[in-house]
Amino acid sequence: MDNKAFFNLIYGICMLSSSYEGKTNGCIINTCIQAANDPARLAISCINGNLTPELIKKSGIFTLSVLDQTVSFDTIKRFGLQSGRDVDKFEGFPVLSDSRGLPYLASEADAMFSCRVTESIDLGSHTLFIGEVVDARVLSAEPPVSYAEYHSRIKPRAKSEPAKEIVGWKCSIFGFQYEGKELPEDFMCPWCGHPASDFEPVYAG
Ligand SMILES: Cc1cc2nc3c(=O)[nH]c(=O)nc-3n(C[C@H](O)[C@H](O)[C@H](O)COP(=O)(O)O)c2cc1C
Repeated sequence: MDNKAFFNLIYGICMLSSSYEGKTNGCIINTCIQAANDPARLAISCINGNLTPELIKKSGIFTLSVLDQTVSFDTIKRFGLQSGRDVDKFEGFPVLSDSRGLPYLASEADAMFSCRVTESIDLGSHTLFIGEVVDARVLSAEPPVSYAEYHSRIKPRAKSEPAKEIVGWKCSIFGFQYEGKELPEDFMCPWCGHPASDFEPVYAG
């Protein structure tokens, strides 16, 4: 099997939020599609063990902000490269609330969807949630941003550090560590499925 085939799938990026018993959290996902119509349903895939899917499982509701071309790396980093188990990701961040009180982005997003979970399938590494859309709004005329653009334009390039010896590579999404100096370019995180471009070097010492 050629794992590089997976890199030719195209995706958009969303901020996914949920809330349960006073704990509100959100994360970044690149796995949202419209799965059905009448009633309109979206499918999202979430890494098991993360806080956001845990809140979705408990509350049965989630809200998506579809990220647009103006989104900054800081926003993606805030929601997608740290866990709500360690920080309050919404503290001091401008958001609006949907009719259930779930946050969606006040800027950097061109549409929002409020959903209620109708089905979920545990796939081992991820849970696939099907959500019926109970509200949807267009937020701006900016085009949506793609996952490919995140890698090519938004994500900062790794700085070369010639003085240090690379001993491994760590997945910045889920923390899996690959032992070895050279990370194969078609390598994918066995825990979350993200590609080699999401790995950061681990240096000796
Ligand atoms: C560009 C990008 C795409 C991501 N796509 C997904 C995804 O499709 N599903 C998912 O569960 N996590 C995805 N993540 C990872 C989560 O956003 C990340 O693990 C987050 O820290 C989880 O936070 P939480 O524990 O607060 O829920 C993505 C992260 C980035 C930066």
